[in-house]
Amino acid sequence: MIEIEPGLETVLERAEPWPEPEAAPSLADRLEERITSRTAALSVVGLGYVGLPLGLTFGDAGFAVTGIDVDAAKVAALGRGRSHVTDVADDELLAAVAARRLVPTTDWSALERADVVTICVPTPLRKTKDPDLTYVVAATEEVARRLHPGQLVILESTTYPGTTEELVLPKLLESGLEVGRDFFLAFSPERVDPGNPTFKTRDIPKVVGGVTPACTHLAATLYRQSMSRVVPVSCTRVAEMVKLLENTFRSVNIALVNEMALMCSHMGIDVWEVIAGAASKPFGFMPFYPGPGLGGHCIPIDPIYLQWRARLDGFEPQFIQLAQKINGDMPRFVVQRAMDLLNEAGKPLRGSRVHLIGVTYKKDISDCRESPAMEILHLLDERGAELTYSDPFVPDLRLGERRLESRLLEPGFVAGRDLVIVVTDHSSFDYAAIASAAPLVLDTRNALAELGAPNVRKL
Ligand SMILES: NC(=O)c1ccc[n+]([C@@H]2O[C@H](COP(=O)([O-])OP(=O)(O)OC[C@H]3O[C@@H](n4cnc5c(N)ncnc54)[C@H](O)[C@@H]3O)[C@@H](O)[C@H]2O)c1
Repeated sequence: MIEIEPGLETVLERAEPWPEPEAAPSLADRLEERITSRTAALSVVGLGYVGLPLGLTFGDAGFAVTGIDVDAAKVAALGRGRSHVTDVADDELLAAVAARRLVPTTDWSALERADVVTICVPTPLRKTKDPDLTYVVAATEEVARRLHPGQLVILESTTYPGTTEELVLPKLLESGLEVGRDFFLAFSPERVDPGNPTFKTRDIPKVVGGVTPACTHLAATLYRQSMSRVVPVSCTRVAEMVKLLENTFRSVNIALVNEMALMCSHMGIDVWEVIAGAASKPFGFMPFYPGPGLGGHCIPIDPIYLQWRARLDGFEPQFIQLAQKINGDMPRFVVQRAMDLLNEAGKPLRGSRVHLIGVTYKKDISDCRESPAMEILHLLDERGAELTYSDPFVPDLRLGERRLESRLLEPGFVAGRDLVIVVTDHSSFDYAAIASAAPLVLDTRNALAELGAPNVRKL
């Protein structure tokens, strides 16, 4: 019989149970460790206005990033340090490429080694004005083919609520892997504002919604490595809807102020002065400004994605419809105003020399997508105007069968135009020189307001 020493009995009673053998770290744990140590391999699919700055931002945070794009010419130019995105300087790109912080490629095999894949491909509209998700589907299929355990996939392209779970997830599930355990999927809307020097990709808070809490956590952890602030939301549909609310908000408010501009024009009131007065209120008012119409890849398109999806549920959104109509009519209004101004000067539009200043959809960037300048040029062309334009970001453009080249704003040339229309208020234009040389100016952006020149007319 074993004798227990006096006192040892209580020590044995108090002893901790043997520790369980330590559980192997889960795939989520391992991925989190790779993300926080910045050893995770990242891939950005689509190197456009969104993907290129995003890839560079991840690269700056210390990640090795592969940028995959189907456009071989773009990839080759990026590899030589030639940026097509105004906000990305060539030397910044070249430094990242030389240090292999960003490797542009057309080779999808990079996804086989990627811990994280972000998809930043276009989401345009079809001719029928339905969402065109062919780019998202094509990119997702490439990702799905190479999906492996422990991978995080994030969709950043703007799209209607439900896309991530109804379109992307089923393709990834074909692998037989389980979401939230074997692989992770989230939506995080891109909110970059091209041409905005104050808010770059890293300065804009990142909204993140995952398919499961683990998906949200991993995506939020990734963005926390390189973005100023991360805002997790409960699910992918909320994250998708956040972006559509933001852009519908802008579309509706721009339409409101465009309608105000038309109303003020009828009533002989300067809408810009009205807005400046209203903006002096320190709360409850946010200024928006009228203009020649909406452009770009976001504001004219994203609300239509939402409208399309809402209609599938039998809901007819009314603000979106009305805003589209008012904003869409602005180029025609500009042309009508041009005709009226020329008429006052005793000239018909047909045969008049009309010069457009700025053709991109907003100032200080090179993006002409959906630019109202194009519609204005077509409408003026149909009516027989003799057209020229100046834009430091757009060396040439197509107008029907013709090619127009950007003209230098020499005083003699400007003086020989019947009407100059300021469509895009790039910072580099010398507005005082334009006002002093041109016989008549239609200023759709209030860019010449401070000059007080009598030959300058507002929208
Ligand atoms: N441009 C903006 O200001 C902005 C802002 C916020 C959100 N977004 C959204 O971000 C998304 C991307 O917009 P963007 O402006 O960067 O577009 P973009 O056209 O500038 O770039 C998209 C890139 O994706 C590439 N691509 C197309 N299909 C591909 C595929 N299957 N695989 C790999 N690459 C492919 C294209 O060659 C192109 O280089 C869109 O959904 C857009 O609505 C854009």
